Amino acid sequence: MTAPKEARARAEALRAEIERHNRLYYVEDAPEITDAEYDRLFRELQELEAKHPELLAPDSPTQRVGGAARGELPPVRHEVPMLSIRTEAEADDAGAAKFDARIRRELGLSPRDPAVEYLAELKFDGLAINLRYQHGELVMGATRGDGETGEDVTPNVRTLRSIPLRLHGSAPALLEVRGEIYMTRADFERLNQRQSAAGQKTFVNPRNAAAGGVRQLDPKVTARRPLTFSAYGVGRVEGWKQFARHSELLDAMEKLGLPVHPARKVVHGADELVDYHRRIGEQRAQLPFDIDGVVYKVNRLDLQRRLGALAREPRWALAHKFPPQEETTEVLGIGVQVGRTGTLTPVARLKPVFVGGVTVTNATLHNEDELRRKDVWVGDTVVVRRAGDVIPEVVGVRAKGPRRREERFEMPQHCPECGSPVVRVPGEAATRCTGGLYCKAQRKQTLLHFAARRAMDIEGLGEKIVEQLVDRGLVDSPADLYELKEAALAELERMGEKSARNLVGQIEKSRDAELHRLIFALGIPGVGEEVARILAREFRSLEALAHADWPKLAADKESVRKQNAQRKKRGEPALKVPLEGIGPELMDSIAKFLHEPHNRKVIARLTAPRTGVRLRQTAPSPAPEGKTFVLTGALSSMTREQAQSELEARGHKVAGSVSKKTDFVVAGAEAGAKLDKARSLGVKVLDEPEFLELLNKASPR
Ligand code: IVH
Repeated sequence: MTAPKEARARAEALRAEIERHNRLYYVEDAPEITDAEYDRLFRELQELEAKHPELLAPDSPTQRVGGAARGELPPVRHEVPMLSIRTEAEADDAGAAKFDARIRRELGLSPRDPAVEYLAELKFDGLAINLRYQHGELVMGATRGDGETGEDVTPNVRTLRSIPLRLHGSAPALLEVRGEIYMTRADFERLNQRQSAAGQKTFVNPRNAAAGGVRQLDPKVTARRPLTFSAYGVGRVEGWKQFARHSELLDAMEKLGLPVHPARKVVHGADELVDYHRRIGEQRAQLPFDIDGVVYKVNRLDLQRRLGALAREPRWALAHKFPPQEETTEVLGIGVQVGRTGTLTPVARLKPVFVGGVTVTNATLHNEDELRRKDVWVGDTVVVRRAGDVIPEVVGVRAKGPRRREERFEMPQHCPECGSPVVRVPGEAATRCTGGLYCKAQRKQTLLHFAARRAMDIEGLGEKIVEQLVDRGLVDSPADLYELKEAALAELERMGEKSARNLVGQIEKSRDAELHRLIFALGIPGVGEEVARILAREFRSLEALAHADWPKLAADKESVRKQNAQRKKRGEPALKVPLEGIGPELMDSIAKFLHEPHNRKVIARLTAPRTGVRLRQTAPSPAPEGKTFVLTGALSSMTREQAQSELEARGHKVAGSVSKKTDFVVAGAEAGAKLDKARSLGVKVLDEPEFLELLNKASPR
């Protein structure tokens, strides 16, 4: 049966449209449609092809999903060998000057001759690949192998959306495209999160993940690896026009719909090579993928031919590396650092190692889960990474040291800074100190939180003032704020008598706070505004909250829950559940905080008659018709904490992890596993503009 004309026409239009969007996305970096719209086009084509199998063509974008697994990767002989690039031993500016001097000498140029023209490019850190296009159609993809013979990975490369299955416009009879397959750091992080969530092995770096992904026997596995391709050269070419320059060749490849990275630049002479190297070095951390240096190539192709190659390395190209961002070293110990928000971070003490341009002796292990996932022990040889200005981190274990069970690192039960008990906040990977009001490491942060608009709303108590108050020992805890004297304040920098008087006035004003504001202001781990309101309504005074019998409350809650289950069966109305919306882990966190002796002391002072605050009852807020939100990724207009309080102020709940009960996921930049989960569960995802619109629709209560 032949497909109706309209179906055939529609399938062709869809294929062209999908490939156009691939090109806009990967080559021009200017997508016109959202992922969801792209998926709709894709699904429509899939359905058409399923209905009319005779419409199926090997170059259809639906055929990228990967065919059957193979027994081995067949060898492929490269018609034009795939060379490597000479690397200058001196990874500094002298290296570029030496290269330029050598090129001039070999070309027989005198000092009076003009500067040599080069094309400077990024040196991608992935896997080199040769893509063969016959009359514009992708017919083969092969790895570099030893340069002479590589492996046939055709079904695998066909799964990469950045690799066109068909070239755009008038393609040469034969074109071998050479370039690199690599993985962006964000995709790498997501992949690792997915792997570890599925209990599978994680990868040490994006390069390994990319190389392993390409060299798979089962192309379906490759299809699940988020890989990207960039072209930087050609192999055998037939039936194409003659180009004078390498840069013109790359421009023409781009016109055929091949992704060529835009960071390439035509430069002249050694100084401009050095400028390029420096500029890219500065931008390196902002690039979404790893590079290990830049590549200089003599731009004129006739000169390239004259220079030729020596021992598998063309004489016309040079790799100018950056200082390594990864090194291996030994773990001498594992300690814990307390951050400004009370988070306990495990830190590896290392045998000093030079990486990312500095000597590193400490590297973060992020949190307990990460440390376990990477399985780092004292005595292990680990890979340490320092990219740009970011904190050095332990990426993974290279070689295991001797491991004795009794020496296994455990997160401490008490804060190393103040001795208060620590808690794991539900839904978070972080371990936190409960000594919030007292812990020195957190003092400044606690005070700022206490004074924040949504907490006690003390105008004028900003970062600069808090810094000085704490550093000069004038304020240790929020309770001290209410004993501050105008004269002492006036002594501070950026403070005159008038500002001091204003600030004291503001502090005085804050004594008349609603109970839930004070509860929120205490900074109990896991207690946002909404939970603070629940606590205020339930306990009606800070004393009652501070003296609550938590084990009994938990038992009551459990018993009401059981009774309700029975009542439901009998068709009876449910009883009110105490502390509805506050789970056992959160109750534990609140209990630990309130039992902590230093916190108790501060609370006692805060609630003391005359010297303390005068609390007002929290007005009952309308029944929570709120939705459950999950925040992931970074928003550009506010911090995650701010986003959370904005939502809570509107009666919504913010949860730590995505489930079927989640109403919305707010996805900022570099959103990760939670976004994937939301998509797989069909939870509605809001981007930042949609989220802001939602906030603007309702005003805070
Ligand atoms: S050109 C000069 N250009 O580096 C002819 N290679 O050390 C050889 N690479 O196997 C290749 N970025 O995997 C070229 N802009 C770039 C490159 C690049 C990364 C890799 C490629 C190659 C290796 C050679």
